[in-house]
Amino acid sequence: MRRHQRRLLLILACVGLSACHHHSAPSPATPRLSAMAQIGAQLFHAPSLSLSGHQSCASCHDPAHAFAPADAASTALGGADGRQQGLRAVPNLTYVLSTPAFSVGPEDPHDDEGAKPVLLTHLPRSAAKQAGDLVPRGGFFWDGRADTLQGQALGPLLNPLEMGNTSLAMLVGKLKALGLPQALLPLAGPAVLRNDRLLVSEAMFAIARYETEDQRFAAFNSPYDLYLQHRGRLSAAAQRGLADFEDPKIGNCAACHPDRRQADGRPPLFTDFEYEALAVPRNRDLRVNQDPAFYDLGLCGPMRHDAEAHQSSNCGLFKTPSLRNVARRHAFFHNGVYHSLQQVLRFYAERDRHPEDIYPRDAHGRVEIYDDLPVRYRGNIDRVDAPFQAASPGLSAQQQSDIIAFLGTLSDADTSSH
Ligand code: HEC
Ligand code: HEC
Repeated sequence: MRRHQRRLLLILACVGLSACHHHSAPSPATPRLSAMAQIGAQLFHAPSLSLSGHQSCASCHDPAHAFAPADAASTALGGADGRQQGLRAVPNLTYVLSTPAFSVGPEDPHDDEGAKPVLLTHLPRSAAKQAGDLVPRGGFFWDGRADTLQGQALGPLLNPLEMGNTSLAMLVGKLKALGLPQALLPLAGPAVLRNDRLLVSEAMFAIARYETEDQRFAAFNSPYDLYLQHRGRLSAAAQRGLADFEDPKIGNCAACHPDRRQADGRPPLFTDFEYEALAVPRNRDLRVNQDPAFYDLGLCGPMRHDAEAHQSSNCGLFKTPSLRNVARRHAFFHNGVYHSLQQVLRFYAERDRHPEDIYPRDAHGRVEIYDDLPVRYRGNIDRVDAPFQAASPGLSAQQQSDIIAFLGTLSDADTSSH
């Protein structure tokens, strides 16, 4: 934090000096950004930073699609030849800047209260999670393995399936070819000309500043925001969908995707940043899944290698994503197995009621329920709460389409043309 503040002061101190603007011409798409964020914007959109020379952050995180991919692929292609298939769906980056650092602690009693009636907040959320239990929370990526935006940004640059740089030295060469040391000189001092590690860390800091300052990352101007501010109305269908989204016996969606103002009055983020095992079906379109022994277990690996990876109660758990701008997405859940909100709602409604409609059958005609989670971890699956309980009435077709209408109100007004 302190470091960020110091940087900010530096940025503010030099805003008035023409020297600061000299090397970083403001990009037309991003007015009123600090000099550091303008450098970050250029890096975010620079394909030359990838091994293939064709892929920038924006190739996967397209500003015109809430910083998610424009196409409908389950996962993105990348790497040296631009043909390596990623393991996970590309998240949209709107509102990620509100992500808290990864932690394991008592379930926050205030996490999703907001202005919610007492009735809704005191229902147990799942048998595995009672008050006082230690639960993982926060962090970037579907498995929370990066703690800061600055730390996160190095991940894709060095990931062989993404931008594919094979070493830090390779990345440094590309940053230098872009003239970055000179551009950073007025902001970070002469050490950036000599110290490669500092150069990389300043570059990642610049990207994080861009993701923090550009208003498109946190516009809070969706129809639902206007409704919360009493400046707009919801359609009758969206209004019914909102009620079902909140009702703990019907959708119960708000238990994990909080939709009311936060306790401090800030608008809702539609995620409590906690982790759940929903047991979404295995995505058989992913090449990596042709290996029957491969499982993406989220918090317990394969991408995490810390203490969390060694706890079997973490296996199969993925971070609850924000639902803001979700209607702009074309691939859903961590493995991108679904391509429409209709499919997502059907999954929530039928997973335990009609698993035969959700999971494939094996050679003997048996339904392969929870087919993307090894049997020994299936105790981690949330099975007690709505909308899952097999015994509950479930979500009718009407309720599903009403909830989808409500989710449509979470799309920000399109600011991509600014
Ligand atoms: C080839 C596609 C691709 C490229 C290029 C790419 N990303 Fe990503 N990004 C992803 C995927 C996939 C994930 C999720 C990975 C995971 O959870 O393991 C992700 C996750 C993220 C997240 C975390 C989001 C969250 O919800 O926690 C941020 C922030 C991010 N990327 C920023 C960037 C930046 C900055 C760059 C450029 C330096 C970049 N990405 C380049 C595909 C890409
Ligand atoms: C117990 C917590 C919980 C409840 C209840 C819940 N969700 Fe989720 N939701 C999650 C988690 C965790 C994921 C990510 C799971 C994964 O990818 O494996 C998710 C993912 C999603 C996604 C995909 C988003 C994306 O970017 O891929 C949508 C849409 C969604 N939820 C909508 C809903 C709706 C609508 C309801 C109510 C019918 C609901 N959720 C109830 C935890 C929950």
